[in-house]
Amino acid sequence: MHIDPLEKKWGQIILVICAFFVGIILFEALFHSVNAPSNVETIDSTKLHLSQEFAEDKLGVNTDDKGNIVVRMVAGRYSFFPKEIVVPAETKLTFRWVSMDVLHGVHIPMTNMSTMVVPGFVAEVETSFPTPGDYPVLCNEYCGLGHDQMWSRIKVVEKEQWLAQHSASKGGQNND
Ligand code: CUA
Repeated sequence: MHIDPLEKKWGQIILVICAFFVGIILFEALFHSVNAPSNVETIDSTKLHLSQEFAEDKLGVNTDDKGNIVVRMVAGRYSFFPKEIVVPAETKLTFRWVSMDVLHGVHIPMTNMSTMVVPGFVAEVETSFPTPGDYPVLCNEYCGLGHDQMWSRIKVVEKEQWLAQHSASKGGQNND
């Protein structure tokens, strides 16, 4: 079978490009924890306020009985609720996102947090914030006319400071 040298050369270039992209995906997955969400968990998006987990007073930062920090957030046109939460830096956090209406996306720059929030499903992502500061939470799926105004804020404080405040203001906040 004859292959034109020019065609062969371009074939090789394409293989190199493909290998490069696969390499980027592997690198991000192994070293930056950028992974496809693997849990499939459904929820009735029209009845969030009646659900055990995403009722209004259960939202935000909670500590479960094993001491894990679980953050429950609701995306809805056009914000993420609660509007502002406070979490500790350098700590593993499990975020659980649901949508109350249409498809949204969550992106927190400088972290691995980037997921679609599909109505009817719970999107769970583990992340941690390396340094204290204010982190914006942005919607990255077009969800309507207010899409570009859809954002909220996460305030990240030193771990010790968070623990001190959290143990002082326990009760009501706790979900176990
Ligand atoms: Cu929500 Cu775009």
